[in-house]
Amino acid sequence: MSKQISLSRYLVEQQRVDGLIPAQLRLLLEVVARACKRISYSVNKGELGDVMGSAGSENVQGEVQKKLDIIANEVLIDANEWGGHLAAMASEEMEGIYVVPNRYPQGEYLLMFDPLDGSSNIDVNVSIGTIFSVFKKPEGHPGVTEQDFLQPGNQQVAAGYCVYGPQTTLVLTVGDGVAMFTLDRELGSFVLTRDNVRIPEDTKEFAINMSNMRHWDAPVKRYIDECLAGTQGPRGKDFNMRWIASMVADVHRILSRGGIFMYPWDQREPNKPGKLRLLYEANPMGWLVEQAGGAATNGRQRILDIQPTKLHERVAVVLGSKNEVERVTAYHNEQS
Ligand code: AHG
Ligand code: MN
Ligand code: MN
Repeated sequence: MSKQISLSRYLVEQQRVDGLIPAQLRLLLEVVARACKRISYSVNKGELGDVMGSAGSENVQGEVQKKLDIIANEVLIDANEWGGHLAAMASEEMEGIYVVPNRYPQGEYLLMFDPLDGSSNIDVNVSIGTIFSVFKKPEGHPGVTEQDFLQPGNQQVAAGYCVYGPQTTLVLTVGDGVAMFTLDRELGSFVLTRDNVRIPEDTKEFAINMSNMRHWDAPVKRYIDECLAGTQGPRGKDFNMRWIASMVADVHRILSRGGIFMYPWDQREPNKPGKLRLLYEANPMGWLVEQAGGAATNGRQRILDIQPTKLHERVAVVLGSKNEVERVTAYHNEQS
């Protein structure tokens, strides 16, 4: 019988055997995983728990908050504030940073998260998730400020997401490839189910919200037009389309079988670079995709090299199979 490897054992091996992560980071990731487990149980209760529908409030981006957005945010804060691993947290659902209260020990890491991604899918029983990203707090000054969070994605020390779908799966990188862990509800623990995840360099599957087509920029339109032309067009092959409207679920499909995901800049909000958020969505997903051999750009440059200028910064996102992402990026760079 092959031995099952739990997330805890995987992390201990990353720390002890390979020296890849310090003990504090291992403990922090265990806490994040525990919080995801709790969120998963809330998600699964659905109509049986008081978790569905709108909370009647708005977040800093002006989006209506769902009850689960708030529940997930609270679960992540409650789980992480007392362990001594963190200095502060930032979330898509909170305007400012959350500094660990001084009644608890202060840690050296910063945690950023999208507590509940894919909110529009909560009430219709479609996959949703939690996305997270971990950085070291910059040294050389006491306390922690918003400025400490404005680090490019290439400084991440861990990133991952948990998708709440037919299975609950936690996907993680600490810079040594991508591993997937499935929640075994009977054991109550995450079990390693895929290691060294690789994204094929080519694909015939794209993910984009086609209803925005009339608002796109020319390079995006060109790329999708060529895909739609199929075997008759310049690509010489038929493409398939998938759009779940939960980034976690779309990225999970891409990590599982390849594809390209795009949420480009468009003319609906011309002054914003895109819809998705750099710190809570694009950076962690970009790093995971790169760690699996894919690529992630904003259409022009590598997402992980973007220097953030504010906490809730938005960004255009093109990620997935390397050759397709490079093609879309080349189309943009030819234009300018
Ligand atoms: P969130 O629920 O955290 O606000 O994120 C939703 C995001 C992302 O998950 C998804 O890819 C995209 O918004 C869907 O946007 P459309 O509704 O425009 O398709
Ligand atoms: Mn999101
Ligand atoms: Mn969200």
